[in-house]
Amino acid sequence: MAPISIKTVLISESVDPRCKAILEENGIRVTEKQNMTKDELIAKIKDYDGLVVRSATKVTADVISAANNLKIIGRAGTGVDNVDVPAATKKGIIVMNTPSGNTISAAELTCALLMSLSRNVPQAAMSMKQGKWDRKKFMGAELYGKVLGIVGLGRIGKEVASRMQSFGMKTIGYDPITPPEVSATWGVEQMSLEQLWPQCDYITVHTPLLPSTVGLLNDESFAKCKKGVKVVNCARGGIIDEEALLRALESGQCGGAGLDVFVEEPPKNHSLVEHPNVISCPHLGASTKEAQARCGEDIALQIVDMVKGKNLVGAAFCFGFCPHLP
Ligand SMILES: NC(=O)c1ccc[n+]([C@@H]2O[C@H](COP(=O)([O-])OP(=O)(O)OC[C@H]3O[C@@H](n4cnc5c(N)ncnc54)[C@H](O)[C@@H]3O)[C@@H](O)[C@H]2O)c1
Repeated sequence: MAPISIKTVLISESVDPRCKAILEENGIRVTEKQNMTKDELIAKIKDYDGLVVRSATKVTADVISAANNLKIIGRAGTGVDNVDVPAATKKGIIVMNTPSGNTISAAELTCALLMSLSRNVPQAAMSMKQGKWDRKKFMGAELYGKVLGIVGLGRIGKEVASRMQSFGMKTIGYDPITPPEVSATWGVEQMSLEQLWPQCDYITVHTPLLPSTVGLLNDESFAKCKKGVKVVNCARGGIIDEEALLRALESGQCGGAGLDVFVEEPPKNHSLVEHPNVISCPHLGASTKEAQARCGEDIALQIVDMVKGKNLVGAAFCFGFCPHLP
């Protein structure tokens, strides 16, 4: 790739200090300014060649339209949901993310939710804080010997599999791209979703949010599951249809759900969050010191590579419509 000149970068959120340090070590002038209003960002953006964001900055079409010098929008995190990628692409602006920086953190939170679902840890902790000593109510079940269905066998799905295998779970899965012989080497037997649903005691989803993954778990698929199946969504809100999940929880078809992500964040409708069999977190998958450090460092190194004309890493969409580059 031809080198791209980036002399000034605006960091609009709290990104690990390594990001600024690496950019400056490579001769790029960095300005950090957090909590800008949209108008402030629109006024400032024209002065910069690069913009680094996390998830709070909404890089909308009007921000992009004002960005006359912008060549790169880098997201220190997985996914580019907060960037209007078609608008950026039309303007020739490269949008990149750091797809692997938070893999371990998201996988570990998924495992924490699976374990919490099996032993009611958050509910029991809450009841102790209320002065109770309720041993009967929180009878759990072992994970050992249970079947975990993993839908989406990419970076996070793979890490979840190896961790839950150490608890003695049988791991089965489905992914249209990862070859079955590859996932078999890390202990995941692949099969069709039709075959997978009825076998699982627990299901966890690790796909991107695409038209083909919206509502992957819906009324129809819940009906094919074992009664009392427990589900986790640490990927993106909407992969498990929220209304179908509530219906399944109310009928007992679903025995519990661990949710880190929601269609609307924060959710205005609290029916799921307040359900006694739901454990939820405010999108904490990537919220660890280690993940933030890796993502901050990765986005800076990726920008520096671009300046030096090396390979593009983590470009979600670039000069064309390419919806699923890693
Ligand atoms: N909760 C968080 O804070 C957090 C943090 C990191 C990542 N994530 C999300 O986790 C998800 C997985 O991330 P990743 O890094 O493992 O992504 P990845 O790209 O490595 O893996 C995704 C996998 O999903 C598969 N897939 C695509 N369509 C599918 C379908 N219809 N059915 C089954 N599989 C399908 C792909 O082939 C791929 O192997 C993404 O949605 C990501 O945005 C959330």
